[in-house]
Amino acid sequence: MEILTFKSDKDAAQKAFEIVRDGVVSGRVSTLGLATGGTPVEFYKKMRESNLDVSSISTVNLDEYVGLEKNDPNSYHYYMEKELFSHMNFKESFLPNGMAKDLEAECRRYEKILKNHAVDIQILGIGANGHIGFNEPGTSFDAETHIVELTESTREANKRYFEKEEDVPKYAISMGIKSILAAKKIILLAFGRSKAEAIKEMVEGAIDPSCPASILQKHPNVTVLADEEAAVLLKEGITSDR
Ligand code: F6R
Repeated sequence: MEILTFKSDKDAAQKAFEIVRDGVVSGRVSTLGLATGGTPVEFYKKMRESNLDVSSISTVNLDEYVGLEKNDPNSYHYYMEKELFSHMNFKESFLPNGMAKDLEAECRRYEKILKNHAVDIQILGIGANGHIGFNEPGTSFDAETHIVELTESTREANKRYFEKEEDVPKYAISMGIKSILAAKKIILLAFGRSKAEAIKEMVEGAIDPSCPASILQKHPNVTVLADEEAAVLLKEGITSDR
């Protein structure tokens, strides 16, 4: 695991952008795996403001809430349109459909899409409880795309986007840890003191489902781009950049 720390999230986002840009320009990247939430916002800004030609690039997203329409401002479909897709000319973009009548069938359909679009670079955030995607602590490392019951702490963390706490969905469809690990390269972004415990556990803790992100220690190509606050609890020996 390569760990780079930065003064600000903007610097880290710039580095993430450069890695993605180099992959796209060299032709090594044809599918990008994308995340939502607060963490990748600066990265998407860098993407939008670039003149990168992404017309041959497919995207797949990690997750979507169950029960929100695509045009619901809290859905991840809406978020991706707003932050990225309406600004760039991607070839095609896939997210799970949280409104599917048969959610199990939807998970299988999405997993098939992932099999046909091997992810070259996956962008990840991390939950304060160590989740990646919506794979909450305790999720099997062997899980593929599945329906997830969100933990209270995750619903609490995400309620800032909703009018009322009751509006925060209880379920989501998420790529499983096995699906995430299939990416050739993973860039995990982490900003702020609230992520410091999770980052420490991910990097230095035992590989255990109690911290889903700890499995990334086993992936051959992970780059963590953190700000100083998120990296504050790590032992010394961390590479600093910028
Ligand atoms: C989002 C996702 C989640 C978030 C994580 C951090 O698609 O899969 O794992 O990356 O919850 O969220 P933020 O960035 O809002 O702190």
